[in-house]
Amino acid sequence: FGRNFIYLESIDSTNLRARASAREGAVEGTVVVADSQTEGRGRMRRAWVSPAGVNLYCSIVLRPPVPSIRVPEIPLVAAAAIHEAVTQECPGLAAFIKWPNDIITGGRKLCGILCEMESEPDCTHFVVVGFGLNVNLDPVPEELRKIATSIAIETGLRMSRARLLAAVLNRFEQLYRDWLEKENLAFILPYLEAHSWLKGRELKIEQFNTVLTGTEAGLSPQGHLLLRTVDGALLSVTSGEAHLLPV
Ligand code: BTN
Repeated sequence: FGRNFIYLESIDSTNLRARASAREGAVEGTVVVADSQTEGRGRMRRAWVSPAGVNLYCSIVLRPPVPSIRVPEIPLVAAAAIHEAVTQECPGLAAFIKWPNDIITGGRKLCGILCEMESEPDCTHFVVVGFGLNVNLDPVPEELRKIATSIAIETGLRMSRARLLAAVLNRFEQLYRDWLEKENLAFILPYLEAHSWLKGRELKIEQFNTVLTGTEAGLSPQGHLLLRTVDGALLSVTSGEAHLLPV
């Protein structure tokens, strides 16, 4: 990844820019990085606060030659890669993977991942994997203090963003290539489960118009979250936002 590399001092959103490049034929592995974003976007149409000089805002174009039904597995491949790269670069950082696509430390978000798929006129599809990693952000803006943190805040150390970016891109490229050869996520389930923030916990999962509650019971090879409800049923949840219930 990154042989085709687009660096911008400021952009509306690296995901939007990567999607525009992909529509114009950008090759697989094209990387768009910006120092700041004016309209950084998160999941559920939320904004991603993106000040200059402190964090990583990065989007990668993928053209996976697999059926589109496998695309929802990609955020977990990215999460595993980012988790591995970040914990290797920052020993002592206690980071966890929060299904379906966040990296959490101390209960607060360190990294968010936004995967978007677009179909092209020739019926192929491309995927843009965007991630925002809070690196040297300190302090966190007041309004986000309860939900967000950064590597600097958690470790007291300032990290090189370039070095972290290289580590993430190298790990993600390897893991993505491995994933293409497999049928599903089974090969990284042990890693995802070993570092899961939700493992065995009581959860509430918010979806568009429903809320599910139950106990986390692992992940399926397709990356669905398995949820054991109070009446003993095992639900396979494809998407949503998970919240821990107070114990
Ligand atoms: C989330 O947690 O809701 C996902 C946040 C994703 C933010 C990143 S920053 C780089 C890329 N460009 C965007 O506009 N969003 C993603």
